[in-house]
Amino acid sequence: MTLAETFDGVRVRAPGKINLFLEVGALQPDGYHELATAFQAVSLYEDLVATPSDDFTIEVSGTVDVSGVPTDDRNLALRAARLLAAETGHPGGVHLDVRKEVPVAGGMGGGSADAAAALVACDALWGTGLSSRQLHALGARLGADVPFALQGGTAVGSGRGDRLSPALARGRFEWVIVPNPDGLSTPEVYAELDRQRAGGGAVIPAPAEVPVVDPDVLHALVAGDARRLAGALANDLQAPALRMRRDLAEVLDLGEREGALAGIVSGSGPTLAFLAESAEDARGLQQMFARRGHEALHVSAPAHGARVV
Ligand code: C5P
Repeated sequence: MTLAETFDGVRVRAPGKINLFLEVGALQPDGYHELATAFQAVSLYEDLVATPSDDFTIEVSGTVDVSGVPTDDRNLALRAARLLAAETGHPGGVHLDVRKEVPVAGGMGGGSADAAAALVACDALWGTGLSSRQLHALGARLGADVPFALQGGTAVGSGRGDRLSPALARGRFEWVIVPNPDGLSTPEVYAELDRQRAGGGAVIPAPAEVPVVDPDVLHALVAGDARRLAGALANDLQAPALRMRRDLAEVLDLGEREGALAGIVSGSGPTLAFLAESAEDARGLQQMFARRGHEALHVSAPAHGARVV
């Protein structure tokens, strides 16, 4: 019998993401902010293998520092598996083996990708046969970015970021990702934005009543026009992230001076994403960062959503 024949698990890959545009509205009574965002999935993947087990257990490894990832019940992938079991009445448990490529606490949705991967893997392993709509609804209960990790590609998000509509994007976009060894907490970055806005500083505009994605972002995506997209990138969480991490502004400047079309804080940071004109430019930019002592990864987008491989 070959190894493939004895393997009784399910392997799923789910992508990390960049927010090309993120407008944060007012804080809602449930503790979340109303927002308008454009997501793009990138070719950094979380690989998850689910195998049958009586309990719910997880092991985490990866090409990134995983020391900050909890392996107890706080782990979002484990919570996803437990939620699916509870909702479908599945009697057994699962062992999850996660190999991470997406920076931890970096603003690229790595934890959300793990949860999305766990939902898809356990659904296949247990034969629970949920529709994408049902998986999406479970994902939204786990975190605002989980539905996008299920869907992948390019999409516009509203509400908490979990109400998705697909966005047309032509061609590939080339990005250079500069991770940062010290993660940022998403709730703390949102709280810093609220503090800055309450302070009434001219730099931080008041929240839009109804946040909307700048049509220029969507036009640039449809046209596959990286230069135009570069001019339309925007993230309301960038100012608070830069305020919490003074070292980031310098790296953003460096990338933009040395050939990136534009640089942006990814989600709540501290990962930085630089858009390049071509794959060749991206490689040059990546090498420039490496020479200056910054880890940098060349990725392309859009990438597929969570799926069995
Ligand atoms: O849903 P998720 O667990 O990813 O969100 C983490 C935190 O980020 C929330 O608890 C909240 O503080 C903040 N958040 C927010 N508004 C959103 C999404 C996230 O305030 N739309």
